[in-house]
Amino acid sequence: MSNEGLQAAQRKMADAGVAQTAIDVFSHYYGQLEEGVTGSIPEDTIEPYLDPPRLEDVTIDPAQAKSAFDQLVVINLNGGLGTSMGMDRAKSLLPVRDGKSFLDLIVEQVLAARRATGSRLPLVFMNSFRTREDTLEVLAKHPDLPVGDLPLDFLQNKEPKLTVDGLQPVTWDPDPDLEWCPPGHGDIYTALQTSGLLQQLLDAGFKYASVSNSDNLGTVPSPVLAGWFASTGAPYAAELCRRTPADRKGGHLAVRRSDGRLILRDTAQTPPEEMDYFTDEHRHPFFHTNNLWWDLEKLDAILKERGGVMGLPLIRNEKTVDPGDKTSTPVYQIESAMGAAIEVFDGATAIVVGRDRFLPVKATSDLLLVRSDVYDLDERRALVQKVDTVPGVSLTSEPYKLIGDFELRFPQGVPSLKEATSLDVQGDWTFGADVSVVGAAVLGEEGGTVPEGARVGTEG
Ligand code: UTP
Repeated sequence: MSNEGLQAAQRKMADAGVAQTAIDVFSHYYGQLEEGVTGSIPEDTIEPYLDPPRLEDVTIDPAQAKSAFDQLVVINLNGGLGTSMGMDRAKSLLPVRDGKSFLDLIVEQVLAARRATGSRLPLVFMNSFRTREDTLEVLAKHPDLPVGDLPLDFLQNKEPKLTVDGLQPVTWDPDPDLEWCPPGHGDIYTALQTSGLLQQLLDAGFKYASVSNSDNLGTVPSPVLAGWFASTGAPYAAELCRRTPADRKGGHLAVRRSDGRLILRDTAQTPPEEMDYFTDEHRHPFFHTNNLWWDLEKLDAILKERGGVMGLPLIRNEKTVDPGDKTSTPVYQIESAMGAAIEVFDGATAIVVGRDRFLPVKATSDLLLVRSDVYDLDERRALVQKVDTVPGVSLTSEPYKLIGDFELRFPQGVPSLKEATSLDVQGDWTFGADVSVVGAAVLGEEGGTVPEGARVGTEG
């Protein structure tokens, strides 16, 4: 047992000014890491969740929707670094359309909803120490965004990365910043409390929060959903989408056999030999979008009751201290997922929403799609699908994996995909201006240049 490692980590956090509650949460997880807790949720411990309410069946009185919307704050998760796409900054800074970034569009969505409803609708970002500065710079371009004296963001906590060998806080002299990481979005509960923002929102008369990821442009502020959530009286709700055979990732809710509570099960918590159950769209027909609704008074009560430690399941994330250098020291990052909190709230619920509320950008192929003419922006600044079926895009070759390399392959913008059924790029291809993909297109392993104005694929 290495109490030495824990003590060193606690000292490092205290010296860096990390709040005591965040140190307590970290220590709770460190204990679990030492015990070898894996967080595995085998299939025979859960029942599928088959009958959530559906938004399409909901009718909400407009006055009730307006009243809930008037008490709503929008919280956007922006602390992650987009490392899977090779980024070391917030993914939301990437341009999406018309020179506007995810951040710009999220702000415009909120401003449009304010204009349409007359509600105050504050927008608050959760940043990490790595994303704050850039984000606030972009937000400063939107002078009408702040509401009263509410801040535009709050900062999530930071914790030391731990050596896989010995569970000691890692040291990395080339860039000491890389010795730290944000503790996953499950940290939002602790951060809301330790930053004082939760109390500030309650004092300003806000009762509900709608929370979502900054890489999901589908979560346009919704009075109907706000009205539905208020009408349930539930403390917490998760938005779900119906799973298609193509949706192999994304956690799902399930009913825990031991106590009948709703829980979230992610890929990392599924035993590898049971992944077939996890991805079976008949067995677990809905996936979790990470769009949540909270009753802030009830959240405050739970946090107070638990001394700020929600006790969510641990996610042990193994990386290298420098994510860009796979030969650097192997580390564990202790994380937790925001949506796992469903098991903490008595009476928590869920709702099935349309696919339009789930447009995440996790990989460069997703970015290609949201930049393309498969979508357009409407008056709510929402991305609306312009085709019946979104084409499947596969960018298997290495040069498309990381964002910098990806951008170099599309110097004149992305191709038209509105007539495409699929695009499979197998080699290293660079696209000229005004390329159109039609039907099913395969660009082979040989690589090359797709000339300006070309139409690629099987027409007709
Ligand atoms: P993801 O799980 O997609 O992670 O985050 P990520 O950090 O953006 O990307 P990778 O895994 O490094 O490639 C989902 C949402 O949660 C936010 C992200 O900013 C994103 O909007 N997030 C994630 C936080 O706010 N804090 C965290 O500690 C982690």
